[in-house]
Amino acid sequence: MQFSKSVIEIIKERTSWRTYSNQLLEDDTKKKIDQILTIKDFKSPFSELAGNTRFELIGVPEFAPDERKKLGTYGLIKGAQEFIVGAIEKSDYYKENYGYLLEAIILAATDLNLGTCWLGGTFNKSLFSTKINCQKNEIVPAITPIGYTIKTRRSKEKAIRAFVKADSRFPWSKIFFENTFSTALPRETTGRYETLLEMVRLAPSAGNKQPWRVLKEKDCDNFHFYVKSSQDLKLKVYNTFINLDIGIAICHFDLTAKDVGIEGTWEFLSPDINPSEEFKYIISWIGQ
Ligand SMILES: Cc1cc2nc3c(=O)[nH]c(=O)nc-3n(C[C@H](O)[C@H](O)[C@H](O)COP(=O)(O)O)c2cc1C
Repeated sequence: MQFSKSVIEIIKERTSWRTYSNQLLEDDTKKKIDQILTIKDFKSPFSELAGNTRFELIGVPEFAPDERKKLGTYGLIKGAQEFIVGAIEKSDYYKENYGYLLEAIILAATDLNLGTCWLGGTFNKSLFSTKINCQKNEIVPAITPIGYTIKTRRSKEKAIRAFVKADSRFPWSKIFFENTFSTALPRETTGRYETLLEMVRLAPSAGNKQPWRVLKEKDCDNFHFYVKSSQDLKLKVYNTFINLDIGIAICHFDLTAKDVGIEGTWEFLSPDINPSEEFKYIISWIGQ
């Protein structure tokens, strides 16, 4: 994925937008989006294991009038005329792969000064699945509106953001660990990896639940990525999204590493660290 500036800047700029200007995308912008959606060799660390993934730009004006009333965004999204919709074959790591790829697309859209908002729950899954001609072995895990935003947020939008505390993130000590989940990773020891971890911390997540946990091995650059599921009955609904969330966080880590020239490989290991029902191991980064 090519960006016009540092991906670090873009990650810091990205925020969810739920109010759009009703304007259709200009032709040249549409062309750029179409090009981004069809990059053939664009892969995530999960792509070899996950099934084929495809994305399309879908315009609301192409919908029948009754369909336009059934977008399923429940007034949360206003004025959006276009959506990016993806379909992925059901497979191992399909959510992680989809999370990574759609986030990279969202960052590219941010780079074009367009607004987006991950929608994993509040959209009409069957309508958008029909629009992308979803096959039996495919699934549409999430979509995003894409368009020109009105730079002031509606009061409903502000209320949603306040409810999920969208502007804040957990402190380092709650999400980054050293050797065990009971020892916080001292930020000052992370050296050139500090920015990569900070970009993980800034990632969006469903309900802003921030389920990613990263365990660094002391004295070497091995980082193990986990997801923490919620045991709280009221929050269990968000557990459906944690594998998309970790894909997004890994996208931030990976693209930032490429941006600043830190080399490493993604590997599926079984680190000898006591997992529990709460923590599920996903993947490791082995720095070089
Ligand atoms: C996988 C995923 C699913 C999401 N689903 C929804 C959704 O259904 N409706 C919604 O309004 N926001 C949704 N969001 C947006 C989050 O609420 C938002 O990213 C979070 O509050 C952080 O705010 P920010 O994106 O502005 O940093 C989702 C985000 C992610 C990553």
